[in-house]
Amino acid sequence: MKNKKRDILVTSALPYANGSIHMGHLVEYIQTDIWVRYQKLRGHNCHYVCAADAHGTPIMIKAREENISPEKLVTSIAKKQYQDLKDFGVEFDKFHTTHSDENKLLVEEIYTSLQQKNHIYTKDIDQAFDIKENMFLPDRFIRGTCPKCAAKEQYGDACESCGATYSPDELINPISTLSNSKPIWKKSEHFFFKLSNFENELTQWIKDAKLHKNIKNKLAEWFEMGLKDWDISRDEPYFGFKIPGTKNKYFYVWLDAPIGYLASFLSLCKDRDNLNYNAYFKKDSHHELYHFIGKDIVYFHTLFWPAVLEAAGIRKPTSVFAHGFLTINGKKMSKSRGTFINAKTYLNNLDPNFIRYYYASKLGPSMEDIDLNMDDFVARVNSDLVGKLINIASRCSGFINKNFNGELSRELDDPKLFNTFLQCSQSIADHYEAREYSKAMKQIMQLADKANRYIEEKKPWMMIKKEEQHEEVQLVCTQGLNLFRMLLIYLTPVIPEISDKAKSFFNEENWHWNDTVNPILGTKINKYIPLLTRVEKEKVDNMMASSNETTPKASTNSEKNLITIDDFLKVDLRVALISDANEVEGADKLLELTLDLGESSRTVFAGIKAAYDPKDLIGRHVIVAANLAPRKMRFGVSEGMVLAAGPGEKDIFLLSVDAGAKPGMKVK
Ligand code: MSP
Ligand code: ZN
Repeated sequence: MKNKKRDILVTSALPYANGSIHMGHLVEYIQTDIWVRYQKLRGHNCHYVCAADAHGTPIMIKAREENISPEKLVTSIAKKQYQDLKDFGVEFDKFHTTHSDENKLLVEEIYTSLQQKNHIYTKDIDQAFDIKENMFLPDRFIRGTCPKCAAKEQYGDACESCGATYSPDELINPISTLSNSKPIWKKSEHFFFKLSNFENELTQWIKDAKLHKNIKNKLAEWFEMGLKDWDISRDEPYFGFKIPGTKNKYFYVWLDAPIGYLASFLSLCKDRDNLNYNAYFKKDSHHELYHFIGKDIVYFHTLFWPAVLEAAGIRKPTSVFAHGFLTINGKKMSKSRGTFINAKTYLNNLDPNFIRYYYASKLGPSMEDIDLNMDDFVARVNSDLVGKLINIASRCSGFINKNFNGELSRELDDPKLFNTFLQCSQSIADHYEAREYSKAMKQIMQLADKANRYIEEKKPWMMIKKEEQHEEVQLVCTQGLNLFRMLLIYLTPVIPEISDKAKSFFNEENWHWNDTVNPILGTKINKYIPLLTRVEKEKVDNMMASSNETTPKASTNSEKNLITIDDFLKVDLRVALISDANEVEGADKLLELTLDLGESSRTVFAGIKAAYDPKDLIGRHVIVAANLAPRKMRFGVSEGMVLAAGPGEKDIFLLSVDAGAKPGMKVK
C-alpha cells in the first residue's frame, strides 16, 4: 500500500477577491503547499487547485466604491493574490476563479440535481433590509449585541466572543453597517437546501473521513443543536450566478464557492490530457480529495458541502483538514494595532523561505492558533536554518572546492552515521503525511545538530594543515555534504527554493524522496554560493513599521505654519533606485513605484502619472523621504514619498541624482 502511486487532489480555501493576501492566509497556503510538495516528492499524482472566490455582497460593494465592474475588480485582485502566493513559493496546478464558465455549468448542474431529487424548497423569510441602500442586508453587514452572551458589536450570524451562531433577527439592537441606519424586516422568497435530510449520511461520512478530534467535537455540538436547513439564495442586487428559472434571485456565494474547487479542477483537466475529471468525482471514486481550510469555515466544509455532494450524487471529500488562526506577537491581526502584515510587506523586507520554515516549525494537525512572534522568528530561523543547516554546507564545501578540485571522495567516512540519517526517513515522511510538520522539523534539526557535531569532532580545518590527513578531509567533507544533501531532500517541501539551489550545487537534476538512499560519491560539485543569509532584526522592524498605519499627531508648531531646522532635519532623505514603476488600476493620477534603498525595498505611490511614462522611470535614481510613516491609500500602503517639484499635472519634475549614487545613501 505504502508504495502504491496515489491519485490525490488537494485544495486550499478560495481567498475572497476583495483584498490582499496577508500573513494569516499564508498559514493555510503554505501548510497546503508543503503537503502537496511532499506528495509530489514521494512520486504520487498530486494536484493542487485553488481559485479566487469572486462572488458576494462585499465584492459587489467594493467594486461600487471603486467605480469599476465587479468582474474587473475580481480579475485585478486575483492576479495580485496569485502573484503574492507564487512569490511565497505556493505552487498551484491551477488558480481559477469562481466566476467562470466551468463553475456556472457545475453550479447549475448540481442545483438542478438537488431540485429534481426534492432537496430544495422555497419559503418566504423575513430579512433585514436597508431602506437607505434599498437592499437586503447580508448577516455580515449587520452588527448588534449577541443574544447569547450580550457581547456588543457582533456580526449578524455569529458571535466572535462566545462562538454562538444565530440568525440576525435574534441580534439585539441591529444596525446596518452600510448606512448606519436601523434595518427594517421585509419578506422575500428564499430557496432552502434540506440539510436535515442528510443526517445519517453525514454521520457516516464524519466517521469515514477520520476528521481531527477538534473538528469532531465541533460537529458533535452542531448535531446536538440540530441541523438547520440552508438558505442558498440571495436577492438582487448581488454579484453571483442567477438561479435558473428565477427573475432576480442569485445563488449565495457559499453555494458556488466550494463548487469552485470542482470547477478549478475541471479547468485543469482541460489543460492536461492525462487528467480525467470523472475519475476524481464520480460517486465511487477511490481517488483522494482533501480540503485544507481555516477553523472559521468548518461548518461549510463538513456539513453543507458533503451534504450537497451527497445530494448531487458526487463523491465526498476523503477528509477535511482545518488549521487555527495566526496571531502576531500574541495578538489578533489588526490594522489599527499594526499587527496586520500583508504578504507584500513581508516580501519587501524578508525572504519567503524564512516564514515557510517558521510556519512549518509551528504547525501541527490541530485547530490550535499559531503565533508569529517576531523575536522567536528571528531566533528560530537564524539558529535552525542558518546556524545548523546551512552551516554544514558552508563548513564542508570550501575544502572540497579549494583542495580537491570540487571532487567528492569515492566513499563515505562514516557510513553508519549516514544510515542513522536514513533510518529517520520513514518517521519524517509519516510526520509530513500526518501534517505534523513541527515534529518533522524538530527531527530534521536534531539530525542537523548531529551532522555539526560530527564535523566539529573531525575538525577538517585542523586536518587540512597536515599533508598526511588531506585525504581524510575529503572523506569528512564528502560525508558532511551528503548529510546536508539528505536533510535538504527532507526539507524540499518546506524550502523548495533553497533545495533547488542545493540541487544545482550538487549538479543534480531532480530530487525524489528516495534519492536519500544513495549518497553521491566521486562526482564534482559546483562552487558554493551561500544558500541563505541571516534574518536581520532591522528588516523585521522595518516590516512591522510598514504595517503600522497610525500616523503621528500634527506638530504643535503648526500655528504659524513654521517648522524649526530640527523639524526639517528629522526628514530622512535617501537615494533610491526606481526598480519598478507601474500604473495603478483605477487611479488617474498615481504611479506605483518600487524603490530600492539598498538594504530594503519600498512601495511608494506618487501622483506623477500625467508627467511620466512608468517605463521611463525604471532605473532612475531619485530622492525619497524614507522615514515618513506608512500611509494607507485606497490602492495600498505608501511607504515614503519621492521628492518632486513643479506646478502640477504634466509639469512635475522628479528630483534626480547622479546614477552613480548608491541606493540607501543619506542625502544632506
Ligand atoms: N472565500 C472563503 C473560502 C471559500 S472556500 C470554498 C474565505 N476566504 S478568506 O479569504 O477569508 O480566507 C481564506 C482562508 O484563509 C480561509 O481558510 C481562512 O480560514 C484562512 N485565513 C484567513 N485569515 C486567517 C488568519 N488570520 N489565520 C489563519 N488563517 C486565516 O474564507
Ligand atoms: Zn456571544
